[in-house]
Amino acid sequence: MFVWEDGYKIGQEEMDAEHLILFALLNQLDVNINADRAGDCLDDVLNALGSYIDYHFAHEEALMQSWNYPGLETHSAMHKEFIKELAGLRAQVKGADALKAALKVRGFVLDWLLGHILETDVDYAAFMAVTTPTE
Ligand SMILES: [Fe+2]
Repeated sequence: MFVWEDGYKIGQEEMDAEHLILFALLNQLDVNINADRAGDCLDDVLNALGSYIDYHFAHEEALMQSWNYPGLETHSAMHKEFIKELAGLRAQVKGADALKAALKVRGFVLDWLLGHILETDVDYAAFMAVTTPTE
């Protein structure tokens, strides 16, 4: 079970709240893995997670845009790459042992999200802390 910590907050309230939801969705996968139901839930959980990720990335990019954040393009490219990699991984584990597939996907998403928040999202939050939105 993944436990959210205050140290994962980037200091941008809306985005912190959305990141928390992402982890809550990921924990749904964890709950089902632990209850030995990975096979029944994997597609549903990943579809829900995928939809929320799409929403969150679009929201985050719109926010960066409205602040005229100079790192927007690089940041958006990372989002796109992640979506591509996740789709690739889902295709790759399709038909594989459900538990192994769920663990693999969970590990990939958790590592990516945490790394992305702590290494990349923190940069726009720091930028926004010392500037004002342009729109
Ligand atoms: Fe991001």
